[in-house]
Parts: sequence; C-alpha cells; structure tokens
Amino acid sequence: MKYINNKLLIDKISVDRIIKTFGTPVYCYSYKQIKENILKFQKNFIKTKPLICFAVKANNNIRILSEIGKLGLGADVVSKGELLAALKSKIKPKKIVFSGVGKTYDEIMFATKKNILLINAESKSEIDTIVKIAKKTKRVIDIGIRLNPNVDANTIKEITTGKNINKFGLNEKEVIELINTYKNSKQINIKCLSVHIGSQITSHVPYIRMLKSVQKIIDKSNFAFEYIDLGGGMGINYELNAKTLNYSRYAKQVVKFIKKNNVKIILEPGRSIIGNTGYLLAKIIYIKKTRKINFIIINTGMNDLMRPALYKAYHRIIPTKKIQNKIFKRHDFVGPICETTDKFLSTKSYQKVDEGDNIVICDVGAYGKVLSSNYNLRTNAYEILIKNSKVFKISKKISLENII
Ligand code: LLP
Repeated sequence: MKYINNKLLIDKISVDRIIKTFGTPVYCYSYKQIKENILKFQKNFIKTKPLICFAVKANNNIRILSEIGKLGLGADVVSKGELLAALKSKIKPKKIVFSGVGKTYDEIMFATKKNILLINAESKSEIDTIVKIAKKTKRVIDIGIRLNPNVDANTIKEITTGKNINKFGLNEKEVIELINTYKNSKQINIKCLSVHIGSQITSHVPYIRMLKSVQKIIDKSNFAFEYIDLGGGMGINYELNAKTLNYSRYAKQVVKFIKKNNVKIILEPGRSIIGNTGYLLAKIIYIKKTRKINFIIINTGMNDLMRPALYKAYHRIIPTKKIQNKIFKRHDFVGPICETTDKFLSTKSYQKVDEGDNIVICDVGAYGKVLSSNYNLRTNAYEILIKNSKVFKISKKISLENII
C-alpha cells in the first residue's frame, strides 16, 4: 500500500477506484502480501522444517484458505465449521490439527472420520470422549495433549492463553499423569505435545520459557513424542515503529530443541500470515464537530471490526487522498453503532477530511471479518481479494432481508 500523487494504492490499484466498483464497507485483501508473509514465515523457520498449520480462526474465507493451502500450509481448526472450511479449501486432512477446550463428541467423531493429523486434547474428560469414539469406531486415534506452561506471553490480557488462570491446556503434573495413564492405550496414540501461550506476542522471551517447560515434560515423562506443536501467537506491527518479534532468536532455540529431542515441529500462525494483508475500506458519512473533538462518523462499525471495542486494539486509519496539512485537534473515528465503544481510533491530530471521503482501516486481515456480527441489524462488510492486478469478490453480501 502506498500513495502515488497523494492517491492511495493497494498493489498498484487505486483504492478510490475499488470503492467505486465495490462500495463500502468492504474487506479487501492482498494476495501478494499473503504470499510474501508465507514465504517470510517459512524462511524464518526453515531450519526447523515445520508443518505450518494456518490458524483458521484468524480468517476463514474459503478463497483465502485455498490460496494459503496452495502455498503449502495446513490448518489449525477449533470447530467442525473450521474443519469443514479447511477441507472445502482442499487442505489435506493429514495437514490439519484440531485444537480447543470444548470439542464435542460429534465434532471429534467427525474429525476422526476425516482422518486428520491430530486432535489436540485439553482435558482428561476430552480424552475420555476420544477413547469412547475410538472404541465405537474401532480406530486408534492420534492425539496431542496441550500443555499450559504457566508462562506470561506479555501481551494483551484478554489474548493470553498460557497462564494457570487461563482455561487452556493442562499443567505439567496433569500432562505427565495423562501420559503415564495412556501411553500403552489401544484406543489412543499420544503423538504430540502441544502448547500455545497467547497471541500478538512481540518478544521471543516467553517462547523460550515455553520451550523450557516443554523440555521439562519430555525429560520428566521420558516419553518420545513424534510432534511438538508450538502453537502460533507471533505478533505483527499495528503501529509503525512498534516492537517486533525476533524470529531468528526464537527459531534458533527451536533448532536446538529439535536436535536434542528428535521431534517434528508444528506451528500454528494466524495473525502473522494474514493480519497485514487485509484492509477495511469505508466512507466518512458525517463529521460532527464539538469544542474538543471532531467526530469522524464512518459507515463501518464494531459489528464489522470488533478488535478496538473488544481489546482496545489499535488500527491505523488512513485517508485515500493525502493532504499534507494537519489539523491539531482531537479526532475520534467512530461507527454508527449505538455503543460508546464503537470507536476505532482517537488521534491528537489528523489531516483535513470531508464528509464523503474514503478511508482505510489497516491490518484487519486477522480476527477482523471472522469476529463480525449483525449487531444493530446491520449487514456485514463482504470481502474482495486483489490478485495479479485483478479484484475478485470472495464472499457474498448477505442482504438485509435474508438476515432478518
Ligand atoms: N493456535 C491456537 C491454539 C490458538 O488459540 C490461536 C489463537 C492460534 C494458534 C493463532 O494465534 P495467532 O498466530 O493468530 O496469534 N481475537 C484476538 C486473537 C485471539 C487469538 C486466539 N487464539 C485478536 O483479535 O487479537
């Protein structure tokens, strides 16, 4: 994305032109950026030869998933719906892992029949359910056990998953007990130890602590796992000049870890693959000026993009026409929803903008569209993809009539 002659382009296509054709609000993705991110991610971990399973929860658009699949990635899914989406996108079952604390009997049965690579179990009760299904289907089911290493990922509290107060995984003692109970089971085959400590992680330090905790389990249990699934969580730069994850320091430790343990690695990145590939294109409906604040009211709201309301997440908002002069007054970009948290951004200054102008909310490819709703009975933004200088519509706009 860049300005040429003060007009904003995404992959060399004018954003105003896209908006003229497709309207607003619309989620727009860049295939070029998806490919670039995947190549970069693969390169960062090249020496660890991982199976990279894209976390479908970050973006479940079928076209996006099939492009990601074609670029060589598998899938990490957390529901029957996500599993169906991954399969529909032609991702091979043997490249799919199933995570999540609340998989139902039906979901596990479905996944078992589809012969996916692993079901990563998160509780003793879930393992009991898997055993039941194995007996019923007369199969041996390959599973992983998810460790909760009690490591602080130093990220937003709401997206931390690896501390002992979080619902995810099992603690060291429980994992070892389960290994001892089930290592000779005829119904389940423990193949993997999985772990995922949180999302939007920008330091390698928590990952190193996580690896230590995994090592402890291996040493104490003396069990030979075929796979270690290290989860995802790699953070991206929502703010220019923000702190970035040092991939090489993380990957170096993973290499050491593999040499010591002779295991295969699985990674489950979501945001780092798709986050910066997506833009939410919108229009300014009204500008409401109060003494202190210029409220820029746009035609997309928290129903389309929940992250700011849910986590106070920061997303850059940029105009499609650039003007150099700044107005030094607080500007709040807000949506039409009847909630005070329906606010995308508050800035101390902004360039002059007018009603009818187009704007772009950046880095919304991950956890954007997937978290959207019809709150206030609004239709949601649909999605388009820019690939090889062409723009494709990749999801349907559901009409108000159908929603109602
Ligand atoms: N694996 C597991 C087991 C996960 O729970 C998650 C994310 C991932 C992988 C992918 O993490 P990523 O690489 O995308 O950080 N809605 C929040 C993020 C929730 C993440 C949930 N789990 C947000 O908008 O920031």
